[in-house]
Amino acid sequence: MYNRRIFMLGATATAAALGLAACGGEGAGSGGPDTDAAPSEQTVGVAMPTQTYERWVADGNNIKKGLEDKGFKVDMQYAEDDIPTQQQQIDQMVNSGVSVLLIASIDGASLSSQLDAAAAANIPVIAYDRLLTDNENVDFYVTFDNYKVGVNQANALMFGLGLLDEEFKPAGDAPKGPLNVELFAGSLDDNNAHLFWQGAIDTLQPYFDDGTLVVLSKQIDIEQAATQRWEQETAQKRMENLLTTHYNGGEELAGVLSPADPLSRGIINALQNAGLGPTIEEGLPVVTGQDAEIASIKLIADGVQSSTIFKDTRTLADQAILSAESILKGEEPEANDTETYDNGVKVVPSYLLPIQMVLESNYQEIMVDSGYYTPEQVESGQL
Ligand code: BGC
Repeated sequence: MYNRRIFMLGATATAAALGLAACGGEGAGSGGPDTDAAPSEQTVGVAMPTQTYERWVADGNNIKKGLEDKGFKVDMQYAEDDIPTQQQQIDQMVNSGVSVLLIASIDGASLSSQLDAAAAANIPVIAYDRLLTDNENVDFYVTFDNYKVGVNQANALMFGLGLLDEEFKPAGDAPKGPLNVELFAGSLDDNNAHLFWQGAIDTLQPYFDDGTLVVLSKQIDIEQAATQRWEQETAQKRMENLLTTHYNGGEELAGVLSPADPLSRGIINALQNAGLGPTIEEGLPVVTGQDAEIASIKLIADGVQSSTIFKDTRTLADQAILSAESILKGEEPEANDTETYDNGVKVVPSYLLPIQMVLESNYQEIMVDSGYYTPEQVESGQL
């Protein structure tokens, strides 16, 4: 499929719109890669999900700058978490004849007709961070090690609870439990949410099995724990409900598995509003996170949020650009995982980037000494 498309050069966008793409043919406004064209003659279409999460803004900025520095034109659109908007934006990119598409989807399964149109117009598609599912017209995937994110979130939770030592081995003086924890997941239409969850649950399961950890609410299925569209308010409300329903008789909540920093902050708001904390030292339950957002790094520095996962989106943008360049040259992009990411129709060759766990003990080194955030940004909690 991938090679076929690379060799089907020159199908015009107009022809694609008329359903004639398979006939090929040269013409102005052709979509898809032209291996002879200079970057300045190629436009990369970049579809981004939302600007409400800090990370997607950083991703977009990094991708745009990286592509422009290499001379490419960029058509980048944010869809503000509205699926029809994203569909429309990609339709437009396909119709305007972009050379390649980079797509960070809102709902990974909602773009089938756009992916089919891209294939018909000869335009290769790279899934960016989130897998595009249920469609064969996905050429490549760049992301982080999503399962490992979940494993690390669970390990960070258990470290915060004193069950693991600083090397993440069972702690010698671990509390016997039972310790009450509650679990949050991301949006069910985001394939990543399932991998984060699976990684975390696989890691926590032995502790559930031996009774060290207990989910008092019994909400242990991803459907019960999910947070539609990854919305902070939704997580905050669910945490409030869990507290009033299950922790109103003196039961102690020790920790919360949260898959992303904005959700963590919503959860922390709910906990603090209920009179817990305000810091971990003062009794706030241990709350995990992801994305190393500046507001959460401040909370970690202040001893409020216990951990986050740093995924350097600069490296993801670079990898996406390298992959796009390879595709545009008619070459196979470099993959380091050709097994994990089955999108329901095919296994999509992928490049997975590493992640880092951030705690109070290492945020300075990972986030500040590295130059990613300034001390002033951490102090203010703002970029
Ligand atoms: C990303 C996370 C992000 C979440 C919410 C996931 O697909 O991998 O980094 O926190 O979406 O935007």
